[in-house]
Amino acid sequence: MQGVISRCDGLPIGIVLVGTTSGWVHSHNRMHVAGGYNQPLVRHLVKWRKLRTLLLTVLILCLIPATRYYQIDQPLLRFFGGSRHVDPLSLHLSGEFVENNLGTEQNADGSVTVRMIAEQYLFIPHCIPVPAGAPVHLRITSADAVHSLTFNGTGSAVKVLRGTISEAQLQFPQAGEYKTVCREFCGAGHYAMRSELKVVPRDQFPALRAEERATCAQP
Ligand code: CUA
Repeated sequence: MQGVISRCDGLPIGIVLVGTTSGWVHSHNRMHVAGGYNQPLVRHLVKWRKLRTLLLTVLILCLIPATRYYQIDQPLLRFFGGSRHVDPLSLHLSGEFVENNLGTEQNADGSVTVRMIAEQYLFIPHCIPVPAGAPVHLRITSADAVHSLTFNGTGSAVKVLRGTISEAQLQFPQAGEYKTVCREFCGAGHYAMRSELKVVPRDQFPALRAEERATCAQP
């Protein structure tokens, strides 16, 4: 579970430790009556304290994955059915992310599906055309490290994990251009990992040729 326990998790773990310890000390003080131990009370208290400590511990430990879910390792996510697996080693050879399947695909209902790969240190395709105002279903995976695809000027960010398909539903109301930038440190070339999203007027999009939908980057 790489990354699940990190610095920020020190707080909940600290609360568990302090809560547990103070529970024990408190129980001990109440059990110790003058001249000896009150046996029935001791048994009752120990039972109740144990249960309370257990519940508190479970509750607080649950907070860790709940707040750090995006750092949970892929095998664990897969185990819980939280993500779709794709083999990062054969992305270019077979399956959904082969080269001629990347780019923007028009769907019958007017929405589009965008398929992309993030890899050190580029997004493929380098330029994505989408129609203005249409729902955009983004499907992206990473060939190597963890990346984060963001669109400058919007609040959208998509975390991209190796071997996993990340999905997002986006929409860009106005025609224009957005710089797409990687916001997750992914290695030496991270700061150069950027590309483009071109939002074209909705009525012009169907006129684009197949290769223009695959990428809007100039050859
Ligand atoms: Cu990819 Cu930073």
